Amino acid sequence: MSARLEVRHATRRFAGLVAVSDVSFTLAPGEILGLIGPNGAGKTTLISLISGTLAPSEGEVLFEGKSITYQPAFRRARLGIGRTFQIMRPFPGLSVLDNVAVGALFGHGGGQAQLAKAREQARSSLEFVGLGKFIDQRADELGGPGRKRLELAKALAMQPKVLLCDEVMAGLNHVEIDEVIDVIRKVRDQGISILVIEHVIKAIKSLSDRLLVLHHGEKIADGTSDDVLANPTVVQAYLGKKRT
Ligand SMILES: Nc1ncnc2c1ncn2[C@@H]1O[C@H](COP(=O)(O)OP(=O)(O)OP(=O)(O)O)[C@@H](O)[C@H]1O
Ligand SMILES: [Mg+2]
Repeated sequence: MSARLEVRHATRRFAGLVAVSDVSFTLAPGEILGLIGPNGAGKTTLISLISGTLAPSEGEVLFEGKSITYQPAFRRARLGIGRTFQIMRPFPGLSVLDNVAVGALFGHGGGQAQLAKAREQARSSLEFVGLGKFIDQRADELGGPGRKRLELAKALAMQPKVLLCDEVMAGLNHVEIDEVIDVIRKVRDQGISILVIEHVIKAIKSLSDRLLVLHHGEKIADGTSDDVLANPTVVQAYLGKKRT
């Protein structure tokens, strides 16, 4: 099957630092790819290159075979690339519902006429992630686990074909992690391709079809989780260190 998303030789520099260095990979329709690596390895930078919140210094990003490398983030969202943010910033005065409706509008164009439709989409995304009971609450009153689900709902409200998740399980307990894993599996069952950044190895191993490992911006492994987690370079670079 042809790739839904392809990253070719992506590099991103910040002044003297190479945050992402010559990274290439593909993501198939309905595939879950786990992206792991130590703190500062370049994981968030890589998904920002895909979602368009950062431009690559070199390399290309292709969506369904066409280059989107120079498209702005909102256009990529409308094409079908949704992401969550590691640093969550809900719009403080807005309800949970309207925070997600903003996501839906970003993904599908604005205008008053679209607002009712966006709220409808937001409602269904919030039900989907288990926040259905909280839609009228102010978003800034949600606790950490609720905010993680809110991020997921916002991205899903864009009705993406590719979902990029940046540590949506960080800070959650085991029960909450299992619930989020179930939500992500249900997303995949709709044929959506998913890239998941996560430090919780047990969770990412059970969820992912494949794992990709970054270290100092470079791809050091890409394959089945069993192969990747047994790879001595990965063990040395990543698993030997304490995670946050
Ligand atoms: N906007 C920026 N300006 C300068 N340096 C940056 C910027 N964004 C990221 N970096 C640097 O790029 C490197 C990769 O950062 P990135 O956030 O992508 O890592 P990460 O793998 O997501 O880490 P973590 O697991 O801690 O979230 C780090 O050294 C970071 O300090
Ligand atoms: Mg990060």
